[in-house]
Amino acid sequence: MDLQGELTAHPYSVYERLRDTAPVCRIAGTDGTPAWLVTRYDDVREALADPRLSLDKANAAEGTYRGLSLPPALDANLLNMDPPDHTRIRKFVGRAFTPRRIEKLRAPIRVTADRLLDALGPAGSTDLVGAYAAKLPMTVICDLLGVPEDRRLDFRVWTDALVVPDPSRPQAAKEAVGAMLVFFLELVAHKRSSPTDDLLSDLIAVRDGDGDRLSEDELLSLVFLILIAGYENTVQLIGNAIHALLQNPEQLALLREDPSRLPAAVEELARYEGPALLAIRRFAVEDLTIAGVTVPAGETVLLSLSAANRDPERFARPDVLDFDRDAAGHLALGHGIHYCLGAPLARAETEIALAALLERYPTLEPAGPAPRWRPSLRARGLEELPVRYAAERSTD
Ligand code: HEM
Repeated sequence: MDLQGELTAHPYSVYERLRDTAPVCRIAGTDGTPAWLVTRYDDVREALADPRLSLDKANAAEGTYRGLSLPPALDANLLNMDPPDHTRIRKFVGRAFTPRRIEKLRAPIRVTADRLLDALGPAGSTDLVGAYAAKLPMTVICDLLGVPEDRRLDFRVWTDALVVPDPSRPQAAKEAVGAMLVFFLELVAHKRSSPTDDLLSDLIAVRDGDGDRLSEDELLSLVFLILIAGYENTVQLIGNAIHALLQNPEQLALLREDPSRLPAAVEELARYEGPALLAIRRFAVEDLTIAGVTVPAGETVLLSLSAANRDPERFARPDVLDFDRDAAGHLALGHGIHYCLGAPLARAETEIALAALLERYPTLEPAGPAPRWRPSLRARGLEELPVRYAAERSTD
């Protein structure tokens, strides 16, 4: 198997080898073109905040990065931008995602979680990714932005096509992008003519009041990014967290005994099994050196958040899930100016998803064979998570 194939199949063992032997290593990146993969914690953290690493594709050397080409109305987003544009847009949207605002969403998120668990009934077996982990963030982010109920399923199909492309359907990602563009154009036009009490209507009102702050493409791209980022990673973190708990029953027991440990446990779960294996690709704006290796200007740099989070130089016994450790400083949500905008929401959703599940089901155990990870160099998430659950404690 080539290195890319090995990384997709067994990321953590390959990261371990790379951290030890080739901490800045040339690989075929997510689009198949050459890239530098960085795996040690100190190097990754420093690089995340290094202004010489740009997110703007204009800084990719000719003939290198191919990536996914998005239409301008989806591409002018924070993950393709450097200051000063990034600073301007981040300031514009930042107010919507402060921890205080997110606190107010906690009660409605719990209501949604309970409603999804009501649908499962008091006992049975199910795929918890499909029935719970995927539904909760979709509902939360769509409620927040004001996406109508009848379009939410479409949205999930499109995101899947983008995040885990199906090699047997090479056109699927392009078709998904086309469908999403139409969807966002219609949604913004609709909210503009009939504003409601949601984030999207607020963003439109502010933009229309002062067009210098945000162009129309930037507005559409921002909504696109918030929906995708707000959905995809959160599904995977919730699914990965439940899986990790089932694989580590002694840690699960600690949480059941003392639910006040949940916020710290979510940090450790994000460190241990975070959904973003890689940060967004970056391009060197000048020749630069990382851990003694020269990266020429214009080449692509991939920073492995998951390899950094399992670096034994930073976290002792990194392959052990341990709720007694201080996981602060993990890089699962990034670092520097691109630190996850939705971090308070991601944390709140994951905490609430776990709290509701554990409170309602004293018996929760894996059902069937070990679940499969989705084949991706970039995203860590389960295809499905079959479990057996019961509202009564198991007598076995
Ligand atoms: C568990 C869930 C999540 C994880 C693991 C996650 C992870 C990340 C990471 C690693 C980055 C930095 C990318 C980089 O610098 O290369 C990022 C940025 C971002 N995230 Fe999240 N995210 C999550 C949830 C969310 C949610 C719920 C939202 C929105 C509601 C969101 C919106 C964003 C946005 C807009 C950015 C770009 C910020 C910028 O460029 O200034 N994320 N996220």
